[in-house]
Amino acid sequence: MKVYNLALIGFGHVGKALVRHLLLKREELRDRYGIEWRLTGVATRRMGWLADPAGLDADALLAGQLPSPPHALQNVEQWLEAAQANVLFELSSTNPHSGQPAIDYIRSGLEHGAHVITANKGPIVHAYQELRDLAKKKGKKFLFEGTVMAGAPLFSLYQYTLPATSVTRFRGLLNSTANVIIAEMEQGRSFDEALRQAQKLGIAETDPSLDVDGWDAAVKVCAIATVLMNVPLRIDEVQREGIRNLTPEQVKTAKAAGKPYKLVAQLERTPSAIVASVRPEQLNSDDPLAAVSPASMLVHLETDLVPGLMITLHLPEEERAGPDATAYDVMADMIRAISGEEVGSH
Ligand code: HSE
Repeated sequence: MKVYNLALIGFGHVGKALVRHLLLKREELRDRYGIEWRLTGVATRRMGWLADPAGLDADALLAGQLPSPPHALQNVEQWLEAAQANVLFELSSTNPHSGQPAIDYIRSGLEHGAHVITANKGPIVHAYQELRDLAKKKGKKFLFEGTVMAGAPLFSLYQYTLPATSVTRFRGLLNSTANVIIAEMEQGRSFDEALRQAQKLGIAETDPSLDVDGWDAAVKVCAIATVLMNVPLRIDEVQREGIRNLTPEQVKTAKAAGKPYKLVAQLERTPSAIVASVRPEQLNSDDPLAAVSPASMLVHLETDLVPGLMITLHLPEEERAGPDATAYDVMADMIRAISGEEVGSH
């Protein structure tokens, strides 16, 4: 049985959760999907580019012990080569406004001949067509299920389950941090206390203004437009308003009146344009978007052939729930990529 060499760029919340999932599912991956794996490369800003084609000790890495591999390298190309990577997990800390350095890493991974799986949204917004075409040329997969609504199969649902449909409208809750903050303020917490709670859950971005000011949701809207509507939408084309100006009093009053606030993302295809927005809205109690628990996410899709389809992701409000869900998507992408080698590309 072929042993797949896995290489990770980024070993933060998501990278660690991915390795835990891989260890937990080692037997199932082998017996059910024919996937034997070893971790041959890990790269972080602190550790540098570490590779060992014989396999790094995943348990030791999780325990925070730095390995002393035979190869500590200078750049991503050398590292991919030394790790003999078959699958690159691109989980770097990347600026969503530029998509870098993730775009360069993904390009290098595909050029090297690995399947590449990313949890970064920036590359989808800024370089989707180029990376998709490069993957096709190389006969490899470029997958990114964990970038939007991690834990729920949004892109694969569309790709595998709704072929030949065209998305006409989309409405959803795409940023958990904003909704946790609103829910905490509804309970009387200050904005700062509410943000700390979201950070404790591991769901807030390293720079929380990306969540609070609606950037994260806007980037996700662009990714959805690019992949599901085949319209590359720029971030500056999304009308964007965050939740910074909402006060605890305002959200408490709105909740008590049965019209709670949520940070709502919306996208509509009109005959002449795509209209996209992210903004706090007061929802009627019978609106399905009002019903979800704080950390949860939800999308409602309308297509030309299927009138309305809703996906809800219920995330427990526990530490690690968000990163665990993203790591699950990343692992599921790996299974899809490797299984696709046998059954032909989709
Ligand atoms: N910061 C993001 C959120 C993480 O709160 O939804 C998941 O993309």
